[in-house]
Amino acid sequence: MDSPPCLWWLLILGSIVHLVQQPQLLQAHRFSFTHHPKGPFTNVTKHLHFPNFLTTSSLGTNFPQLKFLGNARASEEKGVIQIPHSSSSQADQPTYQVGRAIYSSPIRLFDPLTLTPASFETTFSFQFTTNSMATRGGNGLAFVISPDEFTVGRPGPWLGILNDACNHYKVFAVEFDTNHDPQFGDPNDDHIGINLGAAVSFKTANLSEANISLHNSKVHRAWITYDGNHKHINIHLGLDGNPIPSKPILSSPLNLSPFLQEYMFVGFSASTGNSSQNSIHNILSWNFSSTVQASLHVPSTKICHRNVAHLVSKYSTTPHTNPPSSFLIFVALLVLSSVALLSFYFSRMKTNTSDALLFFDTKQRPMLPISPHRFTFAELYISTRRFDKAQVLATDCRGGSTSVLYRGKLVNGCQVAVKRFSTQLLSSPRVTKRLGDQITRASHPNLPNIRGWCCDGREAMIVYDHYPNGSLDRWLFGIGALPWTWRLKLVKDIAQGLSFLHSKQLAHGNLKASSVFLDVNYRPVLGDYGLDFFLPGSGRGSKGDVFGFGMLVLETVAGRKEEGLLGFAREMFEKGEIGRVVDERMGDRVNSEEVVRILKIGLSCTASESGRRPCMEEVVQCLASSSHSRPIVL
Ligand SMILES: *[C@@H]1O[C@H](CO)[C@@H](O)[C@H](O)[C@H]1NC(C)=O
Ligand SMILES: *[C@@H]1O[C@H](CO)[C@@H](O)[C@H](O)[C@H]1NC(C)=O
Ligand SMILES: *[C@@H]1O[C@H](CO)[C@@H](O)[C@H](O)[C@H]1NC(C)=O
Ligand SMILES: *[C@@H]1O[C@H](CO)[C@@H](O)[C@H](O)[C@H]1NC(C)=O
Ligand SMILES: *[C@@H]1O[C@H](CO)[C@@H](O)[C@H](O)[C@H]1NC(C)=O
Repeated sequence: MDSPPCLWWLLILGSIVHLVQQPQLLQAHRFSFTHHPKGPFTNVTKHLHFPNFLTTSSLGTNFPQLKFLGNARASEEKGVIQIPHSSSSQADQPTYQVGRAIYSSPIRLFDPLTLTPASFETTFSFQFTTNSMATRGGNGLAFVISPDEFTVGRPGPWLGILNDACNHYKVFAVEFDTNHDPQFGDPNDDHIGINLGAAVSFKTANLSEANISLHNSKVHRAWITYDGNHKHINIHLGLDGNPIPSKPILSSPLNLSPFLQEYMFVGFSASTGNSSQNSIHNILSWNFSSTVQASLHVPSTKICHRNVAHLVSKYSTTPHTNPPSSFLIFVALLVLSSVALLSFYFSRMKTNTSDALLFFDTKQRPMLPISPHRFTFAELYISTRRFDKAQVLATDCRGGSTSVLYRGKLVNGCQVAVKRFSTQLLSSPRVTKRLGDQITRASHPNLPNIRGWCCDGREAMIVYDHYPNGSLDRWLFGIGALPWTWRLKLVKDIAQGLSFLHSKQLAHGNLKASSVFLDVNYRPVLGDYGLDFFLPGSGRGSKGDVFGFGMLVLETVAGRKEEGLLGFAREMFEKGEIGRVVDERMGDRVNSEEVVRILKIGLSCTASESGRRPCMEEVVQCLASSSHSRPIVL
């Protein structure tokens, strides 16, 4: 608090000028709890139709409607899209080729106001050929809906779908995979899969069961139909020229909302792997159409009048307003300086009596650009679309205090989650100190990345990364079964995050499958922690966390969540039939020794007497010590 008073004047002057120039900021504060009126709904539709990909001579070899990235091209003589194109696959770098062919304009596929995904249907014919006598070497083709038109994902088993440069890469893909990658949970080397922001499929279908093989040069046709209102996807696959098969090859409920942005790009992605004799993925024809609802924005008459008035004054030749006289400026400066002096005086007095919000006053400290920083109320107000109800991810009511988690998008396009605390909660200095601890101390790969905070007297918010893959319960208790190697990795990572938190004398207090989030690489992140500490006298302490972890271990192995799971597991353990707890859906692809060991750890963590539960550090050591399994790469 040693800043010279003149600095204070400048700051205050600056902020007043800023507010006067931007009346919408003042407005933002005033209407923070009202919602934007919605207009009537309309349907936004888009149709693409490519009977072939012949380039017309007038356009040259470029296809203005399509963008070709990486090793993708339209083959002039054949009139098809090729990934990789036939000349590149013979070139000097024949392995690990990847490319995308993307429709160059974005298509509206999500209504952020109502969180409704678009309904779309697409059909395309494709053929996998080789440029030599070799049989295979390609990894497959994917229909993709991606957030941008300039990203090529990784080659090999990633099929160019996934880009690991950004944590917030939302992509949806339907893969036609001709490689068997057990570490990605592939059933065989002839399957299709639905991929949600990940290389591991959310759901797969074995094509051999339908007598279809992609390992030949037959022309196949796929039909993908997504119903955004009923949130359901149907995929049909057959030979080109035949009518659409009566039975879908894959049919599943699917909420695409978490993986869609308002505008997305559609197209194809394909890649080859480490073999030098590669297949070429050809797309021969393509139709796409989508429908999404949008609410019409009807401007209010007031805004229109203001606009007209503004333009009239701007375009008229004689200025309507005279510049302020120098006397007025003098008076204004005099008033402002007195205000500044007074506020400086009072702020000095206050510092000695209350340190409640002191943590947040880091203006004077230099900060690294990547370190958490302060957001203004207006920034978060805009990023959450005025704290719109439609942006609410979760509401947490504990001990009479409420905090609401909003989905937000910063101006740089990053997806964030904004936690807004009710103000009563913040009246205690202890709470603000805890918030401070959380921000400064808890940085770990398995804890949510904190991007910053906002504290403007009436409001307190924390800004986290947003995890588009959602929470663990969705994957663990969902439709598809997670492979064992994954579950083991999840358990280890969660243990490490928790152990780190305990080493910082912080407890999680709310560990469960629904509070663990998965980042884009499926690394678990322990979200929603520490709130217990904010509430007087409700901390369950770290032994409570150990119990929560034990339950999570049992649920992870069992792949289900039910009341009597702990009792059942204890009973089976005593009878020596602990194997009956294991999720049957994993089949025999489970290391049974390992699974029993993990279950025992889970049981010891859930001991009824809290004193007999191990501490998380011991759990981490125990998990690491006898691990023979290969590390899994995602
Ligand atoms: C929009 O499309 C849906 C079905 O796709 C239809 O039920 C609805 O009536 C359409 N709305 C308008 C305003 O055309
Ligand atoms: C896929 O289907 C074929 C034919 O029914 C079968 O032989 C094969 O075992 C199946 N593969 C898997 C992983 O289920
Ligand atoms: C696949 O072929 C086998 C033998 O030709 C036949 O018995 C089976 O019904 C076929 N399955 C499908 C789904 O067409
Ligand atoms: C290609 O990769 C697979 C699995 O990653 C490996 O088994 C195989 O040996 C590799 N082949 C070559 C030619 O490097
Ligand atoms: C593709 O769209 C065109 C025009 O919209 C239509 O005539 C054609 O039948 C469609 N093709 C397929 C295979 O659905």
